[in-house]
Amino acid sequence: MSSLFRTKTIATGDDRPADQRLARTLSWPHLVAMGVGAIVGTGILTLIGVGADRAGPAVLLSFAVAGVICAAAALCYAEMATMIPASGSAYTYSYAALGEVIAWVVGWSLILEYSLVVSTVAVGWSGYAVGFLKGLGVEVPAALANGPALGGVVNLPAVFIIAVVAALLSLGTKESARINSALVLLKIATLALFVAVALPHFDAANLHPFAPYGYGSTAGEGGVKLGVMGAAAIIFFAFYGFDAISTAAEEAKNPDRDLAIGIVGSMVACTAIYMIVAAAAVGAVHFDVFGKSAEPLALILRSLGQPGVATMVAAAAAIALPTVILGFLYGQSRIFLVMARDGFLPPALARISARGTPARITAVTAVFVSVIAGLVPLDVIASLANAGTLCAFVAVAACVLVLRRRDPGARRPFRTPAAGLVAPLAIIGCIYLFTSLQSVTQVSFFVWNGVGLVVYFLYGRARAVI
Ligand code: ALA
Repeated sequence: MSSLFRTKTIATGDDRPADQRLARTLSWPHLVAMGVGAIVGTGILTLIGVGADRAGPAVLLSFAVAGVICAAAALCYAEMATMIPASGSAYTYSYAALGEVIAWVVGWSLILEYSLVVSTVAVGWSGYAVGFLKGLGVEVPAALANGPALGGVVNLPAVFIIAVVAALLSLGTKESARINSALVLLKIATLALFVAVALPHFDAANLHPFAPYGYGSTAGEGGVKLGVMGAAAIIFFAFYGFDAISTAAEEAKNPDRDLAIGIVGSMVACTAIYMIVAAAAVGAVHFDVFGKSAEPLALILRSLGQPGVATMVAAAAAIALPTVILGFLYGQSRIFLVMARDGFLPPALARISARGTPARITAVTAVFVSVIAGLVPLDVIASLANAGTLCAFVAVAACVLVLRRRDPGARRPFRTPAAGLVAPLAIIGCIYLFTSLQSVTQVSFFVWNGVGLVVYFLYGRARAVI
């Protein structure tokens, strides 16, 4: 019986047969844009309100805490992605460093992360789109704008946007990257417009009381975690997406340099953007005003007497939000592709189309996430996505530490600075954020991985191509 902890020597994409090889079309500006595209989304546009509701103006500290933990994780990703430039991200690194069964758990957790992010953002987008169409006089029936849990039949706009993005991805990676870059510029311009209007209204009085629910994480009504750390566990959602870049390793023209620039560059850029946007938001109006809003930035602008700018920001957000779907659908299809190549999913799925994209697996992935987006209620789901991501981040930081010890002389085009401090910081920070999530989320995460292990022992273990 082979060991559950056997490790795999990872082949780079270029060693694969032609019908399993992805085309190398991306350079570092595409990768930074892909990272910013996947990072800036529902987190800063919507969850900033949830964060402020749970931490008060001290949500600024929640942003800082989540940002520092993600920066530590990003440095670890940059080392692993350049050292093992294959498409499977944390799953692949874990297979090389931590062993098969852990790789499986990480891969299974990544499925949770990527699928739920795509579904969450698609449903968030649907809300904007339905509102926008209503403004144009087109009424989408409630039954077709909500899943069964909210009294509807299916959330059709959410399914629609996933289908559009999947079609774009199948058309070509470079084409997708180009459209992504244009939408990312629009998204950044939108946030810059928000800051330009809100920041001049900064009033220190809005920062009092600064931390009405304390600095830790305390249980509030309905199991919700309040306080700076409780909010940080949700705000964490806003920061990830840089990890999706690591799934582009086999499509980067110069992975040694470009992956590190893409991962660390997009993360640093987004942290700076977020701190400025969050400061402008909590300084402009009291957090009570926008804490419960589904569109907090637009609400802040309206309460500052700028309804026109508010509408522009909401419209631009709706147009640009699909970049998050693009980044995560792309990442999900690449992770499935690698798991299929490894024998964990039917190998026919791993075929690459004539356009150099994994069109089959992209279609399968799109159907899978559409079912979730169309039918499943999403209130707890963003935090469940966080749980999957936290697991992957812990694994990647652990891979850095294990491989530094096991193979100190290996080729490392990018070395995590002060890895002995940075990697443990990522691990401890992520575990702490996990414990700050609601219990229902934690339990759901363990149930998901319990099911995953059953699948592994019944299907995956015997088929693994090592
Ligand atoms: N960071 C991404 C977002 O905020 C997942 O939408």
